[in-house]
Amino acid sequence: MIIRKITENDVPFLAEIEEQCFADCRNENTLRDELKYDYTVYYAAVEDNKVVGYVSGNVICGECDITRIAVEANFRRKGIAKALLDFLKNKTEKITLEVREGNFAAIALYEKCGFKRDFIRKNYYKDPIENAVLMSFEKERK
Ligand SMILES: CC(C)(COP(=O)(O)OP(=O)(O)OC[C@H]1O[C@@H](n2cnc3c(N)ncnc32)[C@H](O)[C@@H]1OP(=O)(O)O)[C@@H](O)C(=O)NCCC(=O)NCCS
Repeated sequence: MIIRKITENDVPFLAEIEEQCFADCRNENTLRDELKYDYTVYYAAVEDNKVVGYVSGNVICGECDITRIAVEANFRRKGIAKALLDFLKNKTEKITLEVREGNFAAIALYEKCGFKRDFIRKNYYKDPIENAVLMSFEKERK
């Protein structure tokens, strides 16, 4: 498995994983637009020339706010998401994110990767309504 920047050619793979993982999945056109912004970062985990996982974020003033992390269902529990986060951690001083309170897999992943829970934002998510857990990772705090 290698980790590299995402390119336009990867967009169909990304859209597939989005559809598999998220109710508010983004389509190919939206993803193509997002790749063009200079404040977005997109990194892919690639196996046999196929994107099997990705992480994306918005970088503002050197801090990265993660917008998505997802791994194709058949490739989970192989350390791919952890590898993507480790890659991002090497590139950024501080990382922030929010996650549904009931997304135990993602919260376990973030805690394993050194993220701390900062606070709860009540009823932040819709469809279904759910609290958000805000978490962050800072290099000097390790
Ligand atoms: C959350 C997600 C990205 C994890 O990807 P992954 O590649 O399977 O995670 P990893 O294999 O790197 O797991 C690293 C650690 O995270 C924790 N973890 C990951 N998935 C877990 C699960 N289903 N249950 C409990 N702990 C889990 C474990 O501590 C794991 O280490 P271990 O396998 O040695 O026990 C994946 O389940 C996914 O794509 N989910 C759907 C999308 C999503 O919810 N994204 C997050 C919100 S944007």
